[in-house]
Amino acid sequence: MARITYIEHGGKEHVVEVANGLTVMEGARDNGIPGIEADCGGACACSTCHVYVAPDWVEKLPAREAMEEDMLDFAYEPDPARSRLTCQIKVTDALDGLVVQMPAEQA
Ligand code: FES
Repeated sequence: MARITYIEHGGKEHVVEVANGLTVMEGARDNGIPGIEADCGGACACSTCHVYVAPDWVEKLPAREAMEEDMLDFAYEPDPARSRLTCQIKVTDALDGLVVQMPAEQA
């Protein structure tokens, strides 16, 4: 279980507890948090689950796999340092306290 803070582009924060084994995308979807669309349902095929990870969390997350890297090219204004696709991040206890911010729009 991890407590995750999702910050909408406009600044509104949503703090929710997400069970281990779900993805960060599923945590937003299951809690009705706007700003993460996840059109492909988590198959790493759409880039509409894009977020910017808080700077102090970038190094703590498992590294991006090649497929995520490739798909991020299609995201709206990706930041090479902080952008991630939330469907590719599995929740574990180690993610407790994670903070992510949604982009202005999803591609
Ligand atoms: Fe489509 Fe993440 S939900 S890439």
